[in-house]
Amino acid sequence: MRAIILFDSKTSGGSTDKLIDSIGRKLAESGAYVEKAKCKSTGDYSFVKDFDVVIMGAPIYYLMVSSELLGALLQSNLKSSLQNKKIALFLTCGSPELMANLLYLPQLKLNLIGSTIIAEKIFAPDQLSDQSVISHYVDELITACKRGEE
Ligand SMILES: Cc1cc2nc3c(=O)[nH]c(=O)nc-3n(C[C@H](O)[C@H](O)[C@H](O)COP(=O)(O)O)c2cc1C
Repeated sequence: MRAIILFDSKTSGGSTDKLIDSIGRKLAESGAYVEKAKCKSTGDYSFVKDFDVVIMGAPIYYLMVSSELLGALLQSNLKSSLQNKKIALFLTCGSPELMANLLYLPQLKLNLIGSTIIAEKIFAPDQLSDQSVISHYVDELITACKRGEE
């Protein structure tokens, strides 16, 4: 399995950076080939075609998904590059899960109508370094990928 983690964060070395490192490490331990790329709203995402799974996420700042990821979905060729890809979503935020599900996740999902979303997870502050929660998310997406290959 070839996986790309597309992410955004305004904080270098912050909670999202640490989270994606853990996700990447766990995927690699399962035998996956993993790369990560920081989103730019005007980027060229044609390289995404080389991957089977796209893991995509960012923090919430001021009620919005971080701007370079949201901007990439709205302005670049990211959305078209995601066609026929398996997609796993994640968000990092300070809000309770219910609020995040209602307010934040739809900002991504409305741009992904028709796509195959195999896993989604909102990481609350206390879950960001909880290795069992991260493992559960990674296991869920690996299982969904394998199911798709059967
Ligand atoms: C300037 C700023 C604004 C934020 N606004 C929100 C918000 O509107 N809703 C929310 O749930 N969390 C909010 N948060 C919390 C972040 O989403 C959360 O701390 C996230 O893990 C930060 O990721 P980072 O360390 O990669 O920057 C905010 C954090 C910062 C620093």
